[in-house]
Amino acid sequence: MSARPSVGWIGTGRMGYEMAARLAKGGADVLAWNRTRAKAEPLAQYGAKVADRLSELAGCDIVFCMVAAWRDVKQVMGELLEGKRQPRLVIECSSISLEGSAELRQLLAARGIDYLAAPVSGNAKVIKAGKLSFVCSGPRQSFDEALPLLKMIAPAASYVGEGELARIVKICHNVFLGVVIQSLAEITVLAQKAGVPRHAFLEFLNQSVMGSMFTRYKTPAFVNLDFKVTFTPELLRKDMDLGLDAGRRLEVPMPLASAARDLVQAMMGRGMKEEDFAALLLQQAQASGIALQPENVEVKDGLS
Ligand SMILES: NC(=O)c1ccc[n+]([C@@H]2O[C@H](COP(=O)([O-])OP(=O)(O)OC[C@H]3O[C@@H](n4cnc5c(N)ncnc54)[C@H](OP(=O)(O)O)[C@@H]3O)[C@@H](O)[C@H]2O)c1
Repeated sequence: MSARPSVGWIGTGRMGYEMAARLAKGGADVLAWNRTRAKAEPLAQYGAKVADRLSELAGCDIVFCMVAAWRDVKQVMGELLEGKRQPRLVIECSSISLEGSAELRQLLAARGIDYLAAPVSGNAKVIKAGKLSFVCSGPRQSFDEALPLLKMIAPAASYVGEGELARIVKICHNVFLGVVIQSLAEITVLAQKAGVPRHAFLEFLNQSVMGSMFTRYKTPAFVNLDFKVTFTPELLRKDMDLGLDAGRRLEVPMPLASAARDLVQAMMGRGMKEEDFAALLLQQAQASGIALQPENVEVKDGLS
């Protein structure tokens, strides 16, 4: 692999855009493609090129992919590999199932293409703040080759082993995310109904042993009720379903995850599809018989 490999980037949605932007800003030779071209175009300001057709990326040394679900990964990979040219290594970052990932590995191996499964933890703001983390699996050699690029995007990249192991790590992580956000909504509403302002309650929680980077960066949304999407309820439901499927297969009971999954489903059924998943707080307040108002208090998100 040359010192400055050419990098293809598929998918510049909320996550993919910020990840590709960090690569381009870091000096990588990036050629990006997105189904909706306009979302990729601003990457040109950081020196990235924008492709008209996905097949143009097949000539790159390394191709990253960050789309939505397995069906979308399958579709874009099919289009990428339509012609004769092919990359040397594919790094797939979307949150997908173990089975989908294994099918992709087979498809790529049949063409002699190396493959690293590399899902991530963190939202677009976390990427911008330089705090994203990768969890990777596949051949150790592919991880070592990819590492300089991964480090341009995120300070943390963990290698957890061969095959699709990174997928189950990411699925477990997002099951935890779903349970934690619902639990955070429940206790915040409980404290408020007892008379504690949300900003005061969360300020304490964030400094306690139970506070985390996650509870801190969700605090502005909970306090001031700004639910502009960082991660959609639909994508969270996908991940909770992947976790519950894995639990069924491996015979692991997951009562908390089941309940949290259905609360995300209920939120979607109420039409809250275009809001951030943290709007679970509003559903919880409604179920508790209180109407929340923005507190209009400036609170830190711990990222900037
Ligand atoms: N948001 C988060 O906080 C977060 C955190 C960690 C992991 N993830 C995971 O990261 C992935 C991307 O999430 P996101 O929040 O960036 O989602 P998003 O903003 O909805 O972006 C999805 C991207 O996938 C593309 N896409 C979807 N279906 C496609 C298809 N069939 N063919 C071609 N392109 C397709 C979209 O293209 P268009 O622009 O044309 O629609 C867009 O670029 C998901 O797997 C998600 O679970 C998200």
